[in-house]
Amino acid sequence: MSVVTQNAQTQTARPNTGPLRADTRIVTQGGIPLKGRLRIGGAKNAMLPMMAAALLTDEPCVLENVPILEDIFVMVDLLRSLGAEVELDAEKHRVRIHAKEITDRRAPVELVERMRASFLVSGPVLARTGEMTTPAPGGCKLGSRPVDVDVRGFKRMGAKVFVGDGYYEMSSPRLEGADLYMDYPSHTGTENLLMAATLARGTTTIVNAASEPEIVALGNALSEMGARIEGLGTPYIRVHGVERLRGYHTAVLPDRLEAGTFAIGAVVTGGEVVLENVNERDMLPLIYKLREAGAEVWWSEGDMMVRSSRTLESVEIQALPFPGFPTDLQAAFSVLLTQAEGTSRIFERVFNDRLRYVSELQKMGANVDVPNSQEARIHGPSRLTGAEVRALDIRSGACLILAGLIADGETSVSDIIHVRRGYENIVGKFSSLGANIRYE
Ligand code: EPU
Repeated sequence: MSVVTQNAQTQTARPNTGPLRADTRIVTQGGIPLKGRLRIGGAKNAMLPMMAAALLTDEPCVLENVPILEDIFVMVDLLRSLGAEVELDAEKHRVRIHAKEITDRRAPVELVERMRASFLVSGPVLARTGEMTTPAPGGCKLGSRPVDVDVRGFKRMGAKVFVGDGYYEMSSPRLEGADLYMDYPSHTGTENLLMAATLARGTTTIVNAASEPEIVALGNALSEMGARIEGLGTPYIRVHGVERLRGYHTAVLPDRLEAGTFAIGAVVTGGEVVLENVNERDMLPLIYKLREAGAEVWWSEGDMMVRSSRTLESVEIQALPFPGFPTDLQAAFSVLLTQAEGTSRIFERVFNDRLRYVSELQKMGANVDVPNSQEARIHGPSRLTGAEVRALDIRSGACLILAGLIADGETSVSDIIHVRRGYENIVGKFSSLGANIRYE
């Protein structure tokens, strides 16, 4: 079935975000404490659904504080392939999307296979045009990542869904409001159903909805477009469908995962960093665990300050949906735990295979057991030494860079395309805090 592959357009011209050959590596020399101030950029995981939401209206939508990274380029290409005009201004960190018409209702496989968030266009296109064909999405390999929640929800809202060999064909003259129960509070599943419900006839309730800050940010953008939503940020969301939506002009919220990565970096290198443009509430799960491990975190006028001034202690981490500890930071936190006294435990309860990075950390001398695919026991402190390691996904790449910043000697991280998917200018940002880091 080639229907989903026919309409890919030429790839968007990329702004220069650094060297990116298949064999480009990030090389670090460990031992320098991170020091200084860093402004945190916009959140990738809020930006992607907000871009998809622009497909719900024929009016222009403008987003500010846009992070310039690979996943955004994929979304730009995807929106263009569906007929939207998209202008990305990398210098101003701004994107303007105008989906005056949806000219194609088939998502190209070569884009969708690169990123799970591609599936986020299906709710808006189905709701606006009554049709959507899309392959099952790809993305980081973290274990099983079905889209059952989304598809079941579309069906409950009256869509006919044909499941072909690796693709979905969905149609519905107009979606109908429905009572939806999510077996699991899926992050993108909640976003997809929330967007679809805004244009459905009648009221939709989503019970056991996810409540991540990025979902609240999407809901706020939808409300600015004229959507009628109650209960954002809680497990009970209610959406009263409207006939049409208008454009939005809004800014993307700060990236709690980028902020968390640099905060952990400050602690693990024994440095002191001020992070600007961070939302305190979004950072709370990480802050509790940083303090419990012995770090100091304090706030001043919206800036988050982090430092480590004493011996780190072992802690237990449970990665759970928000406001649980973020699964996207457990790999980075594991580096800190290699430096803590005693045995720490990480329970990964969101994904069933997100500890594969441990084998890379072990190459650097980390003392970690993995009794099962969702539990790691880290025995510390252990001295890490530089090694050649491989980024397996976005966050494991960031974890290995952090490990390289404290290791003796040189660490070389390959497959850094993963890191570039989720972090803007990570080499420049760590360098600005004094790290010895470069592309090679
Ligand atoms: N799940 C189901 N059924 C479904 C959907 C999901 O059982 O129908 C399960 C999955 O198997 C998985 C768990 O739910 O075990 C979490 O999946 P979820 O759908 O919530 O995650 P996601 O939407 O695929 C988003 C982020 C991830 C982040 C997770 C958890 C985006 C684009 N991606 O993924 O971010 O880890 O939520 O918060 O928002 C990253 O940025 O590096 C990243 C992987």
